[in-house]
Amino acid sequence: MKHSILTLVLAVAAFFSVAILLAQGEGAHILWNRQGYAPEQPIAFSHRLHAGELQVDCQYCHWAAEKSRHAGVPATSVCMNCHRFVSAPLGAVRAEDAAATEAGRKPQPVVSPEIQKIYDALGLDASLNVDPHREKKPIRWVKIHRVPAYVRFDHRSHVSVGVSCASCHGAVETMERVRQVESLSMGWCVNCHRRLNASGLAGRPVRASLDCVACHY
Ligand code: HEC
Ligand code: HEC
Ligand code: HEC
Ligand code: HEC
Ligand code: HEC
Repeated sequence: MKHSILTLVLAVAAFFSVAILLAQGEGAHILWNRQGYAPEQPIAFSHRLHAGELQVDCQYCHWAAEKSRHAGVPATSVCMNCHRFVSAPLGAVRAEDAAATEAGRKPQPVVSPEIQKIYDALGLDASLNVDPHREKKPIRWVKIHRVPAYVRFDHRSHVSVGVSCASCHGAVETMERVRQVESLSMGWCVNCHRRLNASGLAGRPVRASLDCVACHY
């Protein structure tokens, strides 16, 4: 107990010294509050298309959310469950079919540049077989949501009692590019714990902790 409080005090001291250093530079905004942060990603992956229009379940890709601390970002092999068959938007495939019919030739395979990046990530050739001579180029997704290292946050304890993804991440299925909707500040966490302790969730009582040590190492 004593030890964990001490760790917290040290972490907080370190936090402020780093914060003061960064406050003079560009990092200040990013360190304190990334609300609204929506970085460009290496592939123009759209949640609006996949989770919205195509209605793929959040946990089809973020399957770890119910099982571990981190919801995680899907491995490229998950994309291939569909993109082995879908190499371009339907509109582009149809356009090529029409052009080929008109010209009396066979349609060419159509691969969109964004989906080509998935194939490049896995080092696949034009027939989608692994090409040992090709270098794999793993996709480096830019992380958006992040709590400081001295905070204990676990997806499992929230998702398993039925707190929806949207209550913390907003309407991701409408986002062309993911944006951090909430502040992820201590006040935000504590307010929800208080609110649900008073109201319950889906008719069941909630006992979400307000103890420092529940959320801090
Ligand atoms: C087809 C797979 C897929 C589905 C379905 C999907 N996601 Fe994602 N998600 C991704 C990928 C890939 C990324 C990383 C790239 C990005 O940020 O867009 C991501 C990123 C995120 C992030 C940001 C992660 C970070 O770095 O902080 C959140 C939050 C998120 N998804 C929530 C959701 C929610 C909520 C749903 C359901 C409404 C959902 N996702 C459905 C694949 C998916
Ligand atoms: C459940 C099936 C499914 C999964 C899983 C899936 N996709 Fe898709 N994706 C599609 C379909 C279908 C389209 C084409 C929709 C259309 O016709 O416009 C598409 C379109 C796209 C596009 C747009 C291509 C363009 O040029 O406009 C990108 C980029 C993309 N997906 C990336 C990904 C990535 C990255 C993953 C893995 C994280 C992934 N997809 C997982 C079904 C899927
Ligand atoms: C109680 C609030 C809350 C709920 C509910 C929640 N998240 Fe998160 N999510 C967060 C926080 C806070 C982070 C940053 C975690 C960190 O830095 O360790 C995060 C991070 C993420 C990330 C980035 C990768 C990671 O795990 O750190 C993804 C992806 C994500 N959430 C998806 C989801 C999905 C999908 C759901 C629903 C199944 C969901 N989240 C439910 C608060 C929440
Ligand atoms: C949208 C509401 C909501 C938000 C926001 C939220 N939580 Fe929770 N939290 C809950 C609920 C509900 C539980 C489950 C309580 C139960 O099991 O009865 C929970 C449980 C927890 C637990 C497990 C210990 C316990 O109390 O049972 C921790 C740790 C925790 N939350 C930390 C956080 C942190 C850190 C944040 C902010 C980064 C956060 N929570 C944001 C609703 C929320
Ligand atoms: C429900 C979760 C939760 C509880 C309970 C909680 N904290 Fe926090 N605390 C956080 C989060 C999340 C942050 C990071 C906030 C940020 O980056 O803006 C934080 C940050 C802090 C900081 C860093 C300074 C700051 O405000 O950003 C201190 C100090 C702190 N907490 C002390 C405490 C103490 C003391 C208690 C008990 C009275 C407590 N916390 C209870 C979630 C919690």
